[in-house]
Amino acid sequence: MTDSLSIRDNRTGRDYEIAITDGTIRAADLKQIALDGEPGLATYDPGFVNTASCRSAITYIDGDAGVLEYRGYPIEQLAESSSYLEVAYLLLNGELPTSDELAGWTHEVTHHTFLHENLKQFIQGFRYDAHPMGMLMASVSALSTYYPDAREIADPENRRLQITRLVAKMPTLGAFAYRHGQGKPYVYPDNDLSYTANFLAMLFKMSEQKYNADERLIKALEVLFILHADHEQNCSTNAVRSVGSSQVDPYSAVAAGIGALYGPLHGGANEAVLKMLRRIGTVGEFIEGVKAGKEKLMGFGHRVYKNYDPRATIIKKACDDVFAVTGVNPLLKIAMELEKIALEDEYFISRKLYPNVDFYSGLIYEALQFPPEMFTVLFAIPRTSGWLAQWQELLMDKDQKIARPKQIYTGARTRDFIPIEKR
Ligand code: CMC
Repeated sequence: MTDSLSIRDNRTGRDYEIAITDGTIRAADLKQIALDGEPGLATYDPGFVNTASCRSAITYIDGDAGVLEYRGYPIEQLAESSSYLEVAYLLLNGELPTSDELAGWTHEVTHHTFLHENLKQFIQGFRYDAHPMGMLMASVSALSTYYPDAREIADPENRRLQITRLVAKMPTLGAFAYRHGQGKPYVYPDNDLSYTANFLAMLFKMSEQKYNADERLIKALEVLFILHADHEQNCSTNAVRSVGSSQVDPYSAVAAGIGALYGPLHGGANEAVLKMLRRIGTVGEFIEGVKAGKEKLMGFGHRVYKNYDPRATIIKKACDDVFAVTGVNPLLKIAMELEKIALEDEYFISRKLYPNVDFYSGLIYEALQFPPEMFTVLFAIPRTSGWLAQWQELLMDKDQKIARPKQIYTGARTRDFIPIEKR
């Protein structure tokens, strides 16, 4: 068997041999297939449904088998035995850290958690009801003005510093955005605490000397952070890579990723799931509405997973641990009823629609007393390590160029300008 594709262009009768590598053909190889004097053949793929945009060694997904691995390690094992910072190190460096490496990385992240005081004032400038994702996106973008050296993206030491800063400061920015919406004073980082315990303290501490969150909640948040750390070429990662391909600083690239994640079809789905569960009257009636195309069952369906989302299975288990501390979320009953009906219904079965990561995460976040607007922030914080691993890989990849898709132009051509009084 030859690893090539034979193509006959029936318009010209010419034959072409195109190399197949890693199950793909290079779109640029199609350019040679052309009518005389015309541009060569291109592919049309809105939403990148069958186009690989890069080669990557970070995250592996087999959507049909429900497999998710970071650097070859199954997500189930990482969720069970690892910590978020260990997973972030793995994503960023390719290997699990030794205990010295983990201690060093943890120390560095812990000592970059504080923000410049001016940035606090910047966040205070938002209206009382500003969406925390909007605040997060703007304040990450603002960080680029505090660290102009971040433009030195070709310097590995410099990249490492900015990566550490971003991973370290995201929880602080997220917590400040939350406290702003609550009208509560911002809480500074506590460097004695772990990454997730410190985040919970910055969110919920009031007058107590030390805020010690329940260990079971800290563990549940670690698991959620691990599950959300990376997911190969999803919409926000693609945004980070696309913006990063212009060689801008990483704060600006990550701000673009936050913007992409904000949307209800992506990370914003967990907020949308909760709002949906709150307004459902009768489950059966609601499902009929979905099937009639009136709305989507948020938290269901995935571009890649067509069997089940392995993250949803782990989250469902984490629900039990959290509810043991907080009491069962009454919306769980509605969610389970919805899931049961949907999994037996031909509409969902034929379209391979199963619960995704967002279907249950919202219930946990609500049990932890987050308002729905905060849910996507809780996704953006851990995804930052994945975005940065992908950004770094992009910069190291000699195949990569500035992202610049083609278009099929469908508009008018070469018209004479019409003066306004004649239109
Ligand atoms: N409820 C009802 N119908 C659906 C849903 C849904 N949640 N998702 C897809 N469909 C239908 C869709 O209408 C289409 O039907 P038809 O063939 O009759 O036109 C069919 O299923 C195929 O859907 P698609 O829109 O072509 O699939 P896609 O791969 O482009 O979209 C998706 C994937 C995740 C955007 C979509 O399933 C969706 O909108 N789900 C709800 C939002 C959601 O939960 N998003 C979180 C994704 S997981 C976390 C993350 O990555 O951020």
